Amino acid sequence: MDKLVINGQHALSGSIPIGGSKNTALPLMAASVLGDGTMTIKNVPNLRDVTTFAHVLRVAGARVQFDPAAHTLTVDAANITYPEAPYELVCKMRASFYMLGALIGRRGHARVSLPGGCSWGPRPVDLHLRGLEAFGAEIDLEQGYVVARAPGGRLDGGSFRMEPSSVGATINLLLAAVTAQGGCRIENAAREPDVVVFGKALQKMGAKIEGLGTETIEVEGTDRLYPVEFVNASDRIELGTFMIAAAIAGAPGEPIRLTGAEPDFLGEAFMNAFRRTGAHVEVGDSYVEVAAPEEIQSVSITTDVYPGFPTDLQAQWSVLLTQAQGRGRITDTVYTDRFKHIAELKRMNAYAMVQGDTATVRGGHPLKGAQVMSTDLRASVSLVLAGLVAEGETHVLRVYHLDRGYEDLEGKLTDVGAQIHRETYDESIGETGELPQEA
Ligand code: EPZ
Repeated sequence: MDKLVINGQHALSGSIPIGGSKNTALPLMAASVLGDGTMTIKNVPNLRDVTTFAHVLRVAGARVQFDPAAHTLTVDAANITYPEAPYELVCKMRASFYMLGALIGRRGHARVSLPGGCSWGPRPVDLHLRGLEAFGAEIDLEQGYVVARAPGGRLDGGSFRMEPSSVGATINLLLAAVTAQGGCRIENAAREPDVVVFGKALQKMGAKIEGLGTETIEVEGTDRLYPVEFVNASDRIELGTFMIAAAIAGAPGEPIRLTGAEPDFLGEAFMNAFRRTGAHVEVGDSYVEVAAPEEIQSVSITTDVYPGFPTDLQAQWSVLLTQAQGRGRITDTVYTDRFKHIAELKRMNAYAMVQGDTATVRGGHPLKGAQVMSTDLRASVSLVLAGLVAEGETHVLRVYHLDRGYEDLEGKLTDVGAQIHRETYDESIGETGELPQEA
């Protein structure tokens, strides 16, 4: 098992490259199933989730090659002979559920495992299934698998209004709708940049889609899609994460430059809140420069669907609030119980409490290094941010959560002056304070 060991309070300075978007790369990989040939996707991050999805594609019959150094993935989907996605892979990574829409779109039928649990939730898939039925699919549940079929091999088409707006359901429905016989309409569709860029890839493959980035998406079905070469988006959540790192751990007055960025993808809510902290921000076409302020102002936020404040940045924001003057609140309206990191931050002397869908964090109490446990991807990166500013040494355990969504985090932070390195450890010998089990 790996952990990250951070020696805190070393000021950061320099520049950090932002990698390709995890949450856009995964739907792009699913889209490759729709083209009966070889698709090339560039700017793909070297992450555990990408590796997992590559296995999912191989199970379906695709040939997948990934060059991690070039961040380039090729998928030969000429022979999708096994329209299934097995439990052992879907339970590892929820986005594998995109294979449901992709296999219906390509083969007219699919057998995909329902996703497993998550460290917060519930994370239902009812909108995915009801939307596919609205488009004409027949859906059965058999031993934990969704068995879906388009009678006659292609969906008829139809209209579906989702409530709430769902990123994953919008992606799954688009994957199935692009080869329907008729037209499909998605109302209250997700407007996240991940969905828009993915939709543009489908358009480049020959899909007829109108309304990307708006609440209503119209799709006119087409007979087939063609594999293309496509450049993945930059990761907006990694960008936001490093902006927060710069604001709390940057050398005062020394801007940190985040390159290869697409700042517009963060949305106004986050940028406005970030500026209200007093951090000095300069935004260019493909970079963001952040200089830490002398004093961070506490800014309360409420998450929402895009262009609202991203739920994937609320854990990181709670660490910023520990460094701010005064008291701030974080309300997550998307996932109302996504606060498992707060208990770990309190072990680092954070003054925070959770009530329902809101965490309240009071600044002015210096964080102290400790052993802390990752519980999910964004919670684990918030513990790393806390370690950067804490007094002494912090051990962030179970960083396999982190490796799902951040490529070479310790390398990028070391390059700007952080004292952070990776170590392996064995949880069975009481590292987490648990007594070794009797042999
Ligand atoms: C995507 O998850 C992201 N994952 C998540 O990022 C992100 O937190 C989330 O969107 C919200 O932005 C990927 O893109 C791979 P949703 P997804 O369906 O699609 C409810 C990360 O850290 N809902 O938009 O699963 C659901 O309960 C990950 O990178 C239904 O009710 O999220 C939630 O309240 C974590 N029924 C809301 O919609 C459904 O059928 C938004 O969920 C589906 C969703």
